[in-house]
This record gives sequence, structure tokens and C-alpha cells, in this order.
Amino acid sequence: ELKDNTIVIVLGASGDLAKKKTYPALFGLYRQGFLPRDVKIVGYARTKMDEAEYYKRITSYIKVPEEEEAAAQLEEFKKLSTYVAGDYEDGAAFDNLNKHLEEIESHYQSKECNRLFYLALPPSVFIPVAKNLKEHCYVSKGGINRIIVEKPFGKDLESARELLGSLKQYWSEDETFRIDHYLGKEMVKNMLVLRFANVALGAAWDKNSISNVQITFKEPFGTEGRGGYFDEFGIIRDVLQNHLLQVLCILAMERPVSFSAEDIRDEKVKVLRAIPPIEQSDTLLGQYVAANGKPGYLDDDTVPHNSVCPTFAATTLWIHNPRWEGVPFILKAGKALNEAKVEVRIQFKDVTQGIFKDISRNELVLRIQPSEAVYLKLNTKTPGLYTRAIPTEMDLTYKRRFSDTKIPEAYEALILDALKGDHSNFVRHDELDHAWKIFTPILHWIEGKSGQRPRPVNYPYGSRGPKELDPFITKYGYKRSTEGYNWPVTNLS
Ligand code: BG6
Repeated sequence: ELKDNTIVIVLGASGDLAKKKTYPALFGLYRQGFLPRDVKIVGYARTKMDEAEYYKRITSYIKVPEEEEAAAQLEEFKKLSTYVAGDYEDGAAFDNLNKHLEEIESHYQSKECNRLFYLALPPSVFIPVAKNLKEHCYVSKGGINRIIVEKPFGKDLESARELLGSLKQYWSEDETFRIDHYLGKEMVKNMLVLRFANVALGAAWDKNSISNVQITFKEPFGTEGRGGYFDEFGIIRDVLQNHLLQVLCILAMERPVSFSAEDIRDEKVKVLRAIPPIEQSDTLLGQYVAANGKPGYLDDDTVPHNSVCPTFAATTLWIHNPRWEGVPFILKAGKALNEAKVEVRIQFKDVTQGIFKDISRNELVLRIQPSEAVYLKLNTKTPGLYTRAIPTEMDLTYKRRFSDTKIPEAYEALILDALKGDHSNFVRHDELDHAWKIFTPILHWIEGKSGQRPRPVNYPYGSRGPKELDPFITKYGYKRSTEGYNWPVTNLS
């Protein structure tokens, strides 16, 4: 339920995340009428700037839709927004922010005031800001206070526990919303419905029918401009340990008793607890090198010249429970690859041989982006006067089937959930703890904590990834379709 009299406070308002994601999402919600009545938005950051400069920054990534009223709505949206400059460590600066908030609230009809704090901040200031907000900006008289935080949540199990523990001193679990923005993506949200609302899929969803599962993240650009941040974290912390692991949990979990946040997250935690730490032998690491006129990772000035940070990783996870014993879940992610694509590919086992020979396996593909789609590769008889099987597909491409529907941005969906107090698509404290247990040993190995740092293999910028990738996947039982099968590319756009 949405509360009237709400202020959304964006901390780090002049930074990249706020500009690229938070403000565009807030505007998207505003123009579709999803924000609370009389909502106000307050930006806070260190940079001193006047209103004109603030408006320029927060709207720089907002694409104004073509509709006539949209430009006017953007002007209205600006009027809801004000800015306060101040330090992150200084209590007095937060008193000043609080004064500004109280001034806005003094115009409310009723006494109740609600505040949603969005921390679009680097981790170095998470804790002082969380503390200062609690001590200086927390409304105590009957309103609701909520805080949204975003990764990185530490760098390994120990540092994550320390960070989360410190945040907990000030903000309760109920008040805290940990974003993993993949949980806000339409296709990821569709997975529970696909699985549990379809008897036809549910029955085949286990080790008896499924050979292997791949969850793939591909980006066609390198770390240009973000090399400094990236080198400290690497692709595993950037994408696998959070986004891809969350997708795995939803694919693998048992049916929740209800759609309530705790029921869903209880089931996700059970999956995580059944996954042992990743083995070195189940890991392939890569780093891109210059090709086709594009720079290599090490050519980035912000990256140490001898860095062995992986920009590509494939890891295989095993779930020790009766449903999944023996089924490899392969997580793959890479920067500077040949295309932009995130998808789940579930490959079923071979059909009983005998009447068929060399027949393709069924595959269910959930394309998360771009262009959401669900398609099932299945064999049909080639039409005509002979009996031969040919791989084809049953295709649900959203743009065709739901042509009039606007698919919400992940951040729109999540900010709306946080405003409503719904935690289902946010990461619970214990989920994060178990996620770190799975990844910490290989991360420490990569960082040389147990000896020499492993050297990632090279792959050219713009390629499909390291040449070692195909044998890696084959090792886990993935079989390429028989010759001649091609997903008709024209369907993609
Ligand atoms: C972020 C990572 O969490 O997710 C980025 O830090 C990555 O490196 C991004 O590019 C991908 O998100 P999306 O929504 O563009 O797939």
C-alpha cells in the first residue's frame, strides 16, 4: 500500500547511479501515476550546485517519451525535486537536511510523514550515512522510514558480515531494502509464474528431465571509464555472485507456500544452503585483449598494468537436493563480448534413442534481455511426404504477443515495491550470507590468498569469449543442436 506524505531522498544525487537509474525510474513512475500523492523528491550530495545545475544532472538520462504531455510532466517532476548539499560524515549537515525535510512536511495536511532514503553511494560512505540518517533524519512520530541500499555489499563473507552488521545497528531488516536490480526485471519476475502456474513445465523441472542449465550474461562493451572500480571487484562480484545467482535461486527453488516475501525468500535460502562452495576446477576465467580497433582491459589507464582481474568467468554450481543432484548450473558472464544478451538456457536430456538418431535436445530459453522472450526448442515432423524430425521452436516473443504493453524498467518496479513495503524482490540478510559462502573461496583463490594468483585466459574484444569456453560447457554435458538449426535472427528485433 502506498503512503501519502512521502519524501524520497536520494543520497548521492549527483552520482552515476542516481543520474542513470534512480531519477529516470522516479520520473517513469511519476508519469505513469504510480508515485504517492503529493510525493516530494530531495537530492543530497557533496557537490555544491544551484537548482538549474541539479535539474540538468537529474534529467540528463531521462528520455522524454514522444507523447505530447510528457515534456510538461518533466517540468512538473522537476518542481517536486529539491536539492541539499552536504557532507556524508558530518552530523550537522544531516541536521540541515532534516530541517529541509521538516519544512516540506510542515505543509502536509496530516501529521504522518514517511521517508524513503535511497543510498546511491559508494560503499566507503554507506555506514556513516546510514548512521547519520538514523540519528538526524529519522521520523519518529508515526511515519515510516525505509532505506534502499545497493551492492557492493562487501567483498567476501567476512567483509559483508561486517558491513551488514554495522548497517543493522541503525536500520532493522524490515526497514532495509537491498537491491539486486535483476530481481526487478520482467522476465526474472515471470519465472515463478512460468514454473508454478504450468503443470506442463513443472513436471519436467528436475534432474530426471533436465541435463544442464546455463545462465548467461553478455555485454558488448568493456569496462571503459569504470576500470578503477571494476579492477577491485572483478566480474564474479560484479555479476555472478548477485545477479546470476539470484536467477539460479528462482529457477531452482521449491514452490513457495505463498507469494509473500518471507515464503519466497525462505525457499531461495534453502537452495543456497544446498550449494557447496565453487571448486577451482569448475571455474574458467578470462580477460579481454585488444582486437578490432578496441582496447584491451589492460589498456585502460585506470587499471594496473599487470592486473589479472577476470572480465569473464564461467563457473559451475551444484545443488545437493533430491530435485537437482547431478545437474550442473553453469553461470557465465563477460564484458567486451560479441553481443548484449542475458538468457537462461535449460537443456533437456536426450530422448530415448531407437526410432530417432542424432535428434536435437529440447531447450527452454528464457531471454531476459534484450527483447524478452520465452521459446522452447522442440522437434517436429518436417512437413511433407516423408517422416523426418526437424528442430523448430514455440516462440513467445513479448513484442509480438504483448505489443501494446510497456515493460517496466527494473528500477521502476523495485522503487515501487520499496514504497509499498514489499520485500519479495529484495535480498534478505541471510541470502547474502549464503551467497558469499558459495563464492568466497574462489574469490580468495583468484586474489592469491592461497598462493599464486591464477592468470585468466585471453579473449579478443568483441568475441564470444575464451576459446576454452565451448569445451568447458561440453564437459558438463551441454550438446549443441544438430547441424542446420538456427534460431531465426529476424525474430529478435
Ligand atoms: C551492474 C554491474 O550491477 O549490472 C554492471 O555493476 C553491469 O557492470 C550491470 O553492466 C548490468 O545491468 P543491466 O541491467 O544493464 O543488465
